[in-house]
Amino acid sequence: MNIDTKALAEKYGTPLYIYDFDYIENRYTTLKDAFAGKKSMINYAVKANSNLSVIAHLAKLGAGADCVSIGEVKRALDAGVSKYKIIFSGVGKRDDEIRLALEYDILLINLESEAEMKRVEMIAKELGKEARISIRVNPNIDPQTHPYISTGLHESKFGVEIDMAKRMYIYANKSEFLNPVGIHFHIGSQLINLDPIKEACGIVADLVRSLKAIKIDIKFFDVGGGIGVVYDDEVTISAEAYTQAIFETTKGLDVTLLCEPGRYMVANAGAFFTKVLYEKVNDGKRFVIVDGAMNDLIRPSLYNAYHKIEAVGVDADAEKTPADVVGPVCESGDFFGKDVPLPPLAHNDLLVIHSAGAYGFTMASNYNTRAKSAEVALQGGVDRLIRKRETYEDQVRLEVEYLN
Ligand code: LLP
Repeated sequence: MNIDTKALAEKYGTPLYIYDFDYIENRYTTLKDAFAGKKSMINYAVKANSNLSVIAHLAKLGAGADCVSIGEVKRALDAGVSKYKIIFSGVGKRDDEIRLALEYDILLINLESEAEMKRVEMIAKELGKEARISIRVNPNIDPQTHPYISTGLHESKFGVEIDMAKRMYIYANKSEFLNPVGIHFHIGSQLINLDPIKEACGIVADLVRSLKAIKIDIKFFDVGGGIGVVYDDEVTISAEAYTQAIFETTKGLDVTLLCEPGRYMVANAGAFFTKVLYEKVNDGKRFVIVDGAMNDLIRPSLYNAYHKIEAVGVDADAEKTPADVVGPVCESGDFFGKDVPLPPLAHNDLLVIHSAGAYGFTMASNYNTRAKSAEVALQGGVDRLIRKRETYEDQVRLEVEYLN
């Protein structure tokens, strides 16, 4: 971000998320261009960053949305995503969520079990509608990523195995209230190796061929999300290599290709800014205590994820020594980085935590009655508040009327 972030931190206060909307646009067009010549749709995974302005920005560029709750579906609709570009996935959907999804007439409800298929059929029947469905297939592939974000092995809760999927398609095809038009898989997140995606794609493409052979015409082939990004020095998958692998494995199939990138679109568009409160040394160990915490950005605490941390606008030549960057929350797991090389810091110095645009704000909580950060968009050199900083009153609003 080539802007005066110190001035923005003064203007909006800290802790603060800032997102570069030009970067998001660039990512979207790069990926879309890599699909050139094929029928395709990019369904942005809203869970990565569900700020309405972020979704609206992508919607204007032509993106659809991949949602995992009716709340996310509502966000996508409110942000201007066309209903025929919205997919509703997730391993457990409540009846009211299914009902609303059918009433909204979104593109696809993605089924993750036989029981869910029966539920959707029943609700569609009640509403006198035909539900357009896809089925999430679990291709039993090890995606070689963090176990918490690995989803394509049989031991994980996601999707159904190939044989079950086939039985479900045959059932759905006969049902008056189900229209099986899509197929889906998602083997994990932060994938930096293309081979598992390619393998999964090949397995699922073979299933589509066998379904087409029995006159079950799959129109939407959804390869999920998961393209990895650079947090540190990873070598990850390029948009071209990704689409070429998809084209190769789906050769000859007349389908619209869908993908659901979240992190790829927004992770490196965003940074988290936090101010130094104090420094202290405990038994020779240096700690930098900042005003942001695990409630704002939980990835380091939850996954031991690496986020690059730098001091903003301090003497570049100052000698750096290792420090743990920690927040005020009363948990030992409340840290942003361990042994981070940092110059001597003073009260109110600013730190930037990079690559925080995905699964940053969306995983934030109010733990310790800490207010959620403000969010700011940058576009064409102009900054714009896209979510106000929460207040104490915002947090207790739903409790005060019951106070006695
Ligand atoms: N589609 C489905 C069905 C998914 O489950 C996910 C992510 C995506 C798409 C988007 O994946 P992406 O392109 O962002 O990798 N909180 C974790 C990531 C959890 C991902 C869950 N599913 C993290 O901070 O790393």
